[in-house]
This record gives sequence, C-alpha cells and structure tokens, in this order.
Amino acid sequence: MTEVLADSSKALFNEGLSHGASEAPELLEAPELFPETTEKLELLTTSLPQRPRRLRRTETLRRLVRETNLQISDLIYPLFVMEGENQKIEIASMPGCYRYTLDLLLGEIQQAYELGIGAIALFPLISETQKDNAGTESSNPQGLIPRTVQAIKQTIPEILVITDVALDPYSSEGHDGIVEDGKILNDETVAVLVKQALTQAAAGTDFVAPSDMMDGRIGAIRQALDAAGWINVGILAYSAKYASGYYGPFRDALDSAPKFGDKQTYQMDSGNSREALKEIELDIAEGADILMVKPALAYLDIIWRIKQCTNLPIAAYNVSGEYAMIKAAAAQGWIDEKQVILETLTSMKRAGADLILTYFAKEVALILQ
Ligand code: PBG
Repeated sequence: MTEVLADSSKALFNEGLSHGASEAPELLEAPELFPETTEKLELLTTSLPQRPRRLRRTETLRRLVRETNLQISDLIYPLFVMEGENQKIEIASMPGCYRYTLDLLLGEIQQAYELGIGAIALFPLISETQKDNAGTESSNPQGLIPRTVQAIKQTIPEILVITDVALDPYSSEGHDGIVEDGKILNDETVAVLVKQALTQAAAGTDFVAPSDMMDGRIGAIRQALDAAGWINVGILAYSAKYASGYYGPFRDALDSAPKFGDKQTYQMDSGNSREALKEIELDIAEGADILMVKPALAYLDIIWRIKQCTNLPIAAYNVSGEYAMIKAAAAQGWIDEKQVILETLTSMKRAGADLILTYFAKEVALILQ
C-alpha cells in the first residue's frame, strides 16, 4: 500500500494541476500510519490549486482579507447611576462595573468618549422608598435619569445618550409593567411608558430605548414624541428581548429582580425565532429606528435571521450574565480574557449586529486603540 489516494481521486487531483505537474512527487515516511509497510508515501498535496492557508500566512494578510472587523465606533457603553456624591460601588457579580454617583459618572463618560466610544446607555438605581406599583418616579422631571441626562449634555454634549424606558427599576414589584392580581397590565403600562419617554426627551436624551416588551409601546411612544415636537429623538427598540437567565447580574446592580414570578408573560420564549420576526415587523411599522436582540450570545441566530429581513440597523446586547461568565472564567485563569472578549463580540457582528451594547466597551476600546 503506497498510494495515499485511490486512482480515481488521483485523476481528479491531477485535473486541478497547473504548476509543477512535471516535478517528481515528494516522498514521505509514514511508518505510524502504515506500520506494515516501509515504503514511501506519495505527497500529492503539492498540486492543490486552492490552499486556504495561503491567506492566513501573516497578520497583515489576515487583516486584509478579514470579513468582520470589530470597531470602537460599534460600541455602546451601558452605565449604572445612583444618587449621592463621590461614590462608586462595584457590582459583585459584574467585577469591573460600578454604580456611579453622577459626579463620578461624568468622569467615566468623559474617559469613554476620549477612548472613542460614541454612545452610552443609562440605567438608574432607585431607592425602595421611591418605588411603587406604577413606577411613578419614572416620569419625575427632577428624577435621577433626567438630571443625569441634563448633566451629561452640559459637560459632554457630543456623546449620544440612550435612556431605558421600562418600569422595573422604579417598580415596587420588580416588574416592567403595572401589576394587578399577579398579572402585568399592558395598555395601562404603555401610558406610563409614554410619560417616561417624554420626560427623558425633555431632559435631552438622544434615544429612548423601550426594554419593557409591552405590546404597542413603540407606536405609542413615537406618536407622543412627534406630537410633542421631539421628532429627532430616536427609538432603539428592544424588539426581540427574551426571558433570560442572563439578566441576573443586572438585576443585582439595580436591585430590580421581580418580587414574584418571572417575566415570561412579556419577554419572549427562548425556543422561538419566527416570533422575533413578528416582533420586528411590528416595531418597524410602529416607528423603531434601531432594532435590538437581547441577550446576544445565545441568540446569534436571531440576529442573523433578522438581518435577512430588514435594512434597519441592528443592535445586540451583550448582557450582564454574558459579561459575568467571561469575567468569572478569566479570574480563574481558565480563559484568555482579551481574546475571548474580542472573539465573542466579533461573533455578534459576524451574525449581523451593527451596534453592540457591552459592559466591555472601555476594555475593548483600550485593546483596539
Ligand atoms: C429591564 C432591563 C433588563 C436589562 C436591561 N433592561 C433586565 C430585565 O429585563 O429583567 C438587562 C441587561 C443586562 O442583563 O445586562 N427592562
């Protein structure tokens, strides 16, 4: 047995020959493969017309043919703000992420902006005493988020500010909507969300980002913004937001875990992907400017599928649990943190995301600089 290939395969190979056909084939020792023989193997691979490895030879070349490039300008940095002064408190399940008082938050945003990050998404920590079932504090014009937006717009006016629209940080029940008899009311909640969005617009936000998953909220918010003259305030719609175990650390950060039950009557079922198309269709018709898929990593197929159906920009939310997993494994020394961060975020872009919300934003900016 001396031939690597059967005669028919060899003929196929030879058809592909363009160079070096007349050279004698090299011979190779392969005693471990064919212990019964001491004869030489013919090395036929010299005549391969396609050698994918040719394009992987050097970093310069790899960069030249790279299909997907993660860029600092793709990133949106989510940040947690709390009342008080001169304090930042690390979130135990999100090492490296903090709740900031407004004064320190401004410094963090300034740094992010200087690193090239163009947008931030804000989430508030609200004290239990300010929470109620209807999330009334969410539309207080002097509330934490409106004051924060105003301060950012005064100090770092160029950075794009995105504010979350949902009741959970303000809800005594820890739900994204008003609760009655253990159920989440839809239309009543939408009326409160509209007020919240108008309050944020008046404070100067660039984008409102409804993350509540109530039906019809995108249309109601768009109409109300337009009627109030805020035609340039955009809507980043959490369109395909799944009921997910990956939000745990975020709920620690905001003390916003549901007090009863879960969010499965409004957030999507993880088994569904056609339903994501239904959701984006509705959000587009209702006036969304950017569509979001959340979480990102376990839903890359959803990003891909939505990309085939719309020309609107798609955002992926690399959520708190995805952040925590990488941080935890890296802390153990089990993975190379930088490599895994870049690989993970690149997978989201490759799947079709144009923008990525990620707690790694600053770290990535430092790597890519
Ligand atoms: C709430 C909201 C959540 C996140 C963003 N907005 C949590 C939830 O729906 O329970 C999660 C973000 C993250 O996990 O990083 N409307």
